[in-house]
Formats: sequence, structure tokens, C-alpha cells
Amino acid sequence: MYGNIRNIGKHMDIYNPVGNIEIYRYVMPAIESNMYVIFDGDKALIVDPNMSEELFEELDRRNISDVTAILTHEHIDHICGLNELRDRINKVKVICSEKCAERIKSPKDNLAKFWDVIIMDRNEADRNLADEMIDRNYTCTANETYEDNKEYEFVSHRIRLISAPGHSPGGSIIFLDDTVVFTGDNLVEGNGVITRFPGGNKKDFWNNTAQVIDGLEDCCYIFPGHGKPGRMLEMRKFLVDYKRPIYI
Ligand SMILES: [Fe+2]
Repeated sequence: MYGNIRNIGKHMDIYNPVGNIEIYRYVMPAIESNMYVIFDGDKALIVDPNMSEELFEELDRRNISDVTAILTHEHIDHICGLNELRDRINKVKVICSEKCAERIKSPKDNLAKFWDVIIMDRNEADRNLADEMIDRNYTCTANETYEDNKEYEFVSHRIRLISAPGHSPGGSIIFLDDTVVFTGDNLVEGNGVITRFPGGNKKDFWNNTAQVIDGLEDCCYIFPGHGKPGRMLEMRKFLVDYKRPIYI
């Protein structure tokens, strides 16, 4: 397991997967999507900006003025904090796939319009909370896009973004250096991969994304879109479910 996991805030913990990298995880209440943040001086790298007051407290405390946000995919629970981030931070650059950039501009394609369907399995308290949090007409925009893949430097880290459709057309798997992998909703603890949402496609998933996930080495540290992070060695058991086609 990880060298260090610290529980700090109500919805936040810190992971130290390798070397001196600290990855802060903020879990959005009700829908429990994960946002990951790496701080460095006055800069921050954010994967999937969701809504978290604790994040803004930390950004203020550290005087962060320059944020790069990268998106694993276009779904509302992974992008809903982006506009507020732009309101509160001087410089915010958003990087995602071309298809993701197109789809975050539409409340139908980013699923904001279908929020009630996404949360219908939650308990009543969570549904009420989630109800208040999301604007059904939410849209946002990106600054930089790529068709198949992109490499990007964040401080001393190499970021690789690889297009990974199937769960959604605009999906990507994101590598930080060699062993840290942000998988979005393509590998989620205890669940099969959902391809039933608008734009989802089983064939795309199997022909592209499943190949990338299957090929990850056991030593990789997986930071999923929902649920707890873990080593690929430990997360691989979820591939069993994922290989039995549980396409809900
Ligand atoms: Fe999703």
C-alpha cells in the first residue's frame, strides 16, 4: 500500500504514491467523484475539478494563482467545479481531448441535463444534496485540446494524456511520470464500466481503453474517478468484474 495516506479535511485525503509527490484527493459530496490536486509553489495541477470549498481554502492558503486543469472526461461530476475555479483563480488553463472540449459545451453531452438519472440510485439525503449542487444547464470550455494524445510538462513532471473512449467519447487516461495513472471512470472499484450513458460505446471501450488499462503494470498507482486509489496490483481484481461484461 501507500507509504502515506493522511486524512485532513472532511472530504479530503493525501496520497504519496512515489518519491516526494503528494496528491490531494477531494471527494465531492453526494456523487463522490474524485478531484486530484498537486501543488507546487504558486501553481497547481488539478485533475477533474469538482466542487469543494476545502480546495478553495487550500488554494487561498497557498496563494495559488496559476492552475492547469486536465479532464479525464466530459461528465458533469468531473467538470462541475471548473467555472468557479475560473472565477476565483487568476490563470486557469484547461486541457482535454477535442471531443471532450466539444461535449463540455453542451449540458446534454456533459450529462448536466440528465443529472437526475445519474443520481437516481443514491439515498434521499444524497439526492437532495446533489440536487442543490448542480446547474442542469452547466457548460464550460477548454483552452487546449488534442486528438489522440498530448504530452505536457507540469513543473518537473511529465504528463501524458491518451484518448480513451468508451465510457464517453471524450475520455482520456492520464499518466503522471511513469507510474501514476488517472483512469477517470474507466476502472472503478467494485463496478463494471458504464457504457450506457449517451455517447458511451462498448466497442470503443474494448478496442481502445480496455487495451490501455489491461496493459498497465502492477506497480502503477491508479487514481480512479470514483472510489479509493490503489496499486494496479490491488485494483486488478476489479478487472474481473470489468471483464465479465457488466455494462450497466
Ligand atoms: Fe463518467
